[in-house]
Amino acid sequence: METVSTVGLKGLEGYRIQAEVQIRAGLPSMVIVGLPDKSIKESRERILTVLRDAESSITTQKIVVNLSPSEQKKNSTLLDFAIAVGILKESHLIKKELDPNAAFLGALSLDGSLLGTDDLLPTILAAKSLGIKKLYLPYDPNIPLELMEELELVFFKNLFHAIAYFNGKNTNLEISPKKAKIMNSTFAWQNDFSHIFGQEQAKRALEIAAAGEHNVLLTGPPGCGKSILAEAFPTILPPLSKESLLEVMSLYQLAGEKHAIPCTPPFRSPHHSSSSTSLIGGGSFPKPGEISLSHKGVLFLDEMAEFPKKTLEMLRQPMESGKVTISRVQSKVTYPSSFILIGATNPCPCGYLGSIHYYCTCSPRQIKNYQNKISGPVHDRLDIFLHLHSMKLDQVNRKSETSESIRRRVQLAREKQYNRYQMVWTNGKVPIEKLLRTSPLSQEQERRLLSLSIKLHWSNRVQLKIIRLARTISDLENQHRISDESIDEAIQLRSGSWFEGIGVKK
Ligand SMILES: Nc1ncnc2c1ncn2[C@@H]1O[C@H](COP(=O)(O)OP(=O)(O)OP(=O)(O)O)[C@@H](O)[C@H]1O
Ligand SMILES: [Mg+2]
Repeated sequence: METVSTVGLKGLEGYRIQAEVQIRAGLPSMVIVGLPDKSIKESRERILTVLRDAESSITTQKIVVNLSPSEQKKNSTLLDFAIAVGILKESHLIKKELDPNAAFLGALSLDGSLLGTDDLLPTILAAKSLGIKKLYLPYDPNIPLELMEELELVFFKNLFHAIAYFNGKNTNLEISPKKAKIMNSTFAWQNDFSHIFGQEQAKRALEIAAAGEHNVLLTGPPGCGKSILAEAFPTILPPLSKESLLEVMSLYQLAGEKHAIPCTPPFRSPHHSSSSTSLIGGGSFPKPGEISLSHKGVLFLDEMAEFPKKTLEMLRQPMESGKVTISRVQSKVTYPSSFILIGATNPCPCGYLGSIHYYCTCSPRQIKNYQNKISGPVHDRLDIFLHLHSMKLDQVNRKSETSESIRRRVQLAREKQYNRYQMVWTNGKVPIEKLLRTSPLSQEQERRLLSLSIKLHWSNRVQLKIIRLARTISDLENQHRISDESIDEAIQLRSGSWFEGIGVKK
């Protein structure tokens, strides 16, 4: 019996698969066992057609393939290559001993070409985290070779080249592609904070949100600049690290999309009519949804109150845990989904509640119903509430700071956080006990927060969110401890909440 290694995927996580092949005398046939799905069952025909071209005698015997671990359902055509190599080894058409630390990935076409699939990049990364050192695979220009230095990748055009390579016939059969310069590519944003006049308070709040990865709700009358501010928000986020970029690219590949601008954090703005499956992920062949495509970036929900309440409720678990688990009858997949949520909405159906220029014509009941569309638990998970007013564009200072200079401050604050937590954690996402251990509040600060929380009926989550926000503000000011002023500003940023501020009280 011959065994060849390959890798399967569950969400973004991988597991080793051993393709065990046995060829026996018997009626000509080929069976694949080990819970293959329909696509793998069909690979039988592809593999047999190609092998018949390589050596016709193989297909006149009984071939049994077991995909171990046999209890795990398998569903990727990338296993074709390993199965084919297993059969070739078992029939001594490949004589060379294979490296036990190497794995094979690739789908076969009828002419023997090796092809990549949507799950090729995530499978390569999963193989790397499983400790596999070498991969034999088809060349795909979407693989960011520059970021894969620790892994030895050997590319083949087709199965016949692979057979010749392993039999030492011609050593130039593997493809050696050029490495693209991905990490050095520059930002290419159309928006910039300097194009937005005035709104200094909103810009400061968004800078804090970017520095500590805090969620924001922007409210205000029509045309006051909610959407333009949110759309410019990713320009003040620091570029993605190498690990984050690979993770983001993998999620995009799984969803069958391309991450448009390399290195920049993703920005997704699904329409409020999007289905909950497209937002959260899933489907009969599970795919990452918008919340996973915003991983390490921004999920912008424009007209947030117009989203179906049920869909917004589904954000509760991913917003807390940074990942989403989708259960299907026979399988369960988990995708990462750690994003900064920016919501934008009018405060009431007519849009002018709290406006300094127009009267609101809505009844208290209408306002309450409208605001209730964003339920208490979702509201509780937001950190910063900003109520915007329209500016008199001729009166505001038109010389605004550029996104680049804000981004530099955000980057410095991020580095402070990463150093303090010794992990790539921000104040918005770090486990709270770690934050409190590294930045304890003074007794006086604790007493003050406690008395305010009793007075203003803050939930425990809200109290902790204020501490997280205050920590970020102090980081931006380069302060070692959480200062009293940063707590004041954090309370201020939280106080625009519908439940405490401009809205109708519950
Ligand atoms: N401070 C500003 N500086 C420059 N342009 C602005 C500013 N505020 C608004 N605008 C411009 O005004 C227009 C309306 O802004 P925007 O779409 O952001 O409003 P909105 O608050 O999202 O409105 P709605 O509630 O209707 O969605 C846009 O074309 C935007 O470019
Ligand atoms: Mg808008």
